[in-house]
Amino acid sequence: QEDKFKKVVSHAKEYGFIFQSSEIYDGLSAVYDYAQNGAELKNSIREYWWKSMVQMNENIVGIDAAIFMHPTTWKASGHVDAFNDPLIDNKDSKKRYRADVLIEDYAEKLNIKAEKEIAKAAKRFGDAFDRSEFVNTNPRVVGYLSKKEAVLSRMARSLENEDLKDVKALIEELEIACPLSGSKNWTDVKQFNLMFGTKLGASAESAMDLYLRPETAQGIFVNFANVQKTGRMKIPFGIAQTGKAFRNEIVARQFIFRMREFEQMEMQFFVRPGEELKWYELWKETRLKWHLSLGLGENKYRFHDHDKLAHYANAAADIEFEFPFGFKELEGIHSRTDFDLKAHEEHSGKKLQFFDHEMNKNYVPYVVETSIGLDRMFLAVFSSALQEETLEDGSERVVLKLPPVLAPTKAAILPLIKKDGLPEIAREIMDELKFDFSVAYDEKDAIGRRYRRQDAIGTPFCITVDHDTKNDGMVTIRYRDTMEQNRIKIEDLRSIISKEVSM
Ligand code: GAP
Repeated sequence: QEDKFKKVVSHAKEYGFIFQSSEIYDGLSAVYDYAQNGAELKNSIREYWWKSMVQMNENIVGIDAAIFMHPTTWKASGHVDAFNDPLIDNKDSKKRYRADVLIEDYAEKLNIKAEKEIAKAAKRFGDAFDRSEFVNTNPRVVGYLSKKEAVLSRMARSLENEDLKDVKALIEELEIACPLSGSKNWTDVKQFNLMFGTKLGASAESAMDLYLRPETAQGIFVNFANVQKTGRMKIPFGIAQTGKAFRNEIVARQFIFRMREFEQMEMQFFVRPGEELKWYELWKETRLKWHLSLGLGENKYRFHDHDKLAHYANAAADIEFEFPFGFKELEGIHSRTDFDLKAHEEHSGKKLQFFDHEMNKNYVPYVVETSIGLDRMFLAVFSSALQEETLEDGSERVVLKLPPVLAPTKAAILPLIKKDGLPEIAREIMDELKFDFSVAYDEKDAIGRRYRRQDAIGTPFCITVDHDTKNDGMVTIRYRDTMEQNRIKIEDLRSIISKEVSM
């Protein structure tokens, strides 16, 4: 698993998808740049989301609100007072940790110990090994796993009660029971606000303290009345948006899973009070269908319904995806009640209500939100697409089996050799196709190596021009996944490609 994750990170760099930000200055932690292929893939994912949310739903409109917002926004939303992570410093190593993540790491260590026992026994018993029987009855394994559960639930309880002293005590106990950091010298746990602050205005006296938005959702809430009136929207309706969000996260080594600058794709759906749970169920189902439509595999997704709810929610679930490091949150679906609109009414003194003609009354709508991280979706798509295959002749190939609709380059046009007029024909084909699809031209190296280069960046089609093309107007099309090759007419290319890469 860890190995797979390393391969994902290095493939992303080697093939021009993702670079560490400011790499020539040794980079900036948890900040990344999308390179030539990465930017295309990211754009395609955003477009795929936007089309299915905005273009396909006549009662959902899209906006693009500013990153800077009036500071009162974040007071109203609760972010100033409650958008915190519990932090702890190790006095010896001078390293800072998120206390809850550190405890999860200890719990993972107990899990690894249990897995080692299980693997040893599996080897000993061979075919006769029954995993679930062993896990349930072997005292050492039962001990590790129940300790792990106890640790996690004590952490959850302490954090919920804001008992930060107990969180510290738990870390100290764990460090003795299963050493991880190699040091026992911890500071107290402190709550740390995740918002980035900045200033607006030139002179020191008049400057206003601002925050970079930690979620895009608030840009939708504050525009609720403007969009509803100017778009003559009737409940139920939705407002969608994609854009950057910023959080001062204290975690390393998760690549683009948890970043300090990232992009969200969010939709707030405004409904009649009392009808929110019906819509919540519908959006859970709709969003899962969207994921499944990409064909990454049904078994890669699962729902995680939240037992403990944030103060503003009356139902919440995550869609989790199986990343190379296990099942983790990819998207959240939250029934946020009327919390946000009411809070903005109170703080702004402006009405954020809807007059419902059928009911003949005014009300503050309830909200069901769908919220997905674009970078996290990128990682989901990219990591599950990356595959190593052993071919019939025993050679290996690395192939990025991206859904064709998302592939950065849809087709590569390759003249078999660099002379005899073949490059000219290839260029003509490029000019024909480039208005409709992103296509690439490559004439360098042997054809086999060029195919492998395109496999590695996920190009679904390679189109080869050879000497016969001059006589019969046909080219060879090679399919990335099957490596099958067919001869087809140049004029059929557009429809063949289009069939595969359209939504
Ligand atoms: N408006 C609701 C909201 O922001 P969230 O669960 O905090 O809810 C929603 O974030 C989604 O945004 C997550 O499911 C995840 O995909 C993405 N996300 C959150 N923090 C992130 C980070 N630091 N880096 C990358 N993606 C992040």
